[in-house]
Amino acid sequence: MSCEKRLITSNLCMTLDLGLNGNVFGGRIMEWLDEAAAIFVYKELKGRIVTLKVSEVLFKVPVHERDILEIYGDIKEIGTTSITVDLDAITADDGVKVCSCEIKMVHVNEFGEKEAIPEDVKARIQAEFQLCD
Ligand SMILES: CC(C)(COP(=O)(O)OP(=O)(O)OC[C@H]1O[C@@H](n2cnc3c(N)ncnc32)[C@H](O)[C@@H]1OP(=O)(O)O)[C@@H](O)C(=O)NCCC(=O)NCCS
Repeated sequence: MSCEKRLITSNLCMTLDLGLNGNVFGGRIMEWLDEAAAIFVYKELKGRIVTLKVSEVLFKVPVHERDILEIYGDIKEIGTTSITVDLDAITADDGVKVCSCEIKMVHVNEFGEKEAIPEDVKARIQAEFQLCD
């Protein structure tokens, strides 16, 4: 696995993103993580993908209105039909890591059925992200 996470998205935390306690709603952050995983994988694969699995997400520090939450990611694993990404959500201002997670996306055809990732695409991703078979 390569150890350099790349910036995928920046999210400005606005009033509509807040939960009942005035901090950014956890579900909103989970949406941003899923969206970042989809963007990241889609840019590499350029094919249809769906989210199969999301790891545990632990929120140890609050995120506030007006924070910019950046999502960084790296490809952890590539299989026959799936790609797993490692994500970190970090506040841009002070660099605090808010949470991390792993998301597995599956390549699908137009009917939503799993489909093997083309070998040439797989080889390019393996080389770019220094992954083993
Ligand atoms: C994604 C989907 C097409 C996969 O079809 P499937 O017949 O279940 O496929 P499989 O069980 O053979 O698994 C496909 C891949 O996921 C992996 N996988 C399956 N179950 C897994 C699990 N519990 N944990 C980790 N990986 C798993 C398999 O190893 C395989 O990866 P690989 O080909 O790279 O080795 C199907 O499950 C689906 O449509 N899910 C709904 C997706 C969706 O709508 N997501 C939005 C949120 S609801």
